Amino acid sequence: MKQESWTEMDDYICSRLAREDLALNVALEDSVRAGLPPVNVPPNQGKFLYLLAKIRGARRILEIGTLGGYSTIWLARALPADGVVISIEAKTEHAAVARKNIQFAKLSHKVSIIIGRAVETLENLIEEKAEPFDFVFIDADKANYPLYLHMVLALSRAGTVIVCDNIVRDGRVGDFTCNASDVTGIRQYIDLVAGMPRVESTALQTVGSKGWDGFCISLVTA
Ligand code: DHB
Ligand code: MG
Repeated sequence: MKQESWTEMDDYICSRLAREDLALNVALEDSVRAGLPPVNVPPNQGKFLYLLAKIRGARRILEIGTLGGYSTIWLARALPADGVVISIEAKTEHAAVARKNIQFAKLSHKVSIIIGRAVETLENLIEEKAEPFDFVFIDADKANYPLYLHMVLALSRAGTVIVCDNIVRDGRVGDFTCNASDVTGIRQYIDLVAGMPRVESTALQTVGSKGWDGFCISLVTA
């Protein structure tokens, strides 16, 4: 009953404010056809990420977890002409779907997908002294969020915005009888950002077509 209402409301919001064009539709259809898990962000949340990146004036965006490239397209569209998204994906098959979708969206010149485990890719970026990112979207395996956070901070500077997806997990994160690894990963992430002197954070719950979930958002201040 609740889910029905949330979906109805999301349909309304998306139809007015976050309508998908052909490239976004194709990205989703392609992802379904390729058998990817249907865990892409919904359109209004894709638009939310796009707006946050634009408000930030992001020129360099880092995404952890490309999947089929749906959120990558939203993020790449927020960039100025000389902007880049570096998106990390562990699964070769997912990256192949994403590359095709990003090409169809005419964004290949702005997006670089790196195939590999995020921890290793992030280590390489740190070692190479990659230019810091302006905006980071963490949307991969939840158990490793705390590890990703530490590494992302090494690729950040004052002004970097870090958004992470799926901090509610249908309320399991607030239910301390639940100790699944995805849930404890999120709790550790929240505790970490809460305790960091150079990071200001909050989190928001969302309901919608994808159920009950939420974002954590942080600003690196020094
Ligand atoms: C899952 C992962 C996601 O990134 C998401 O947005 C929703 C669900 C999952 O693995 O369950
Ligand atoms: Mg997610």
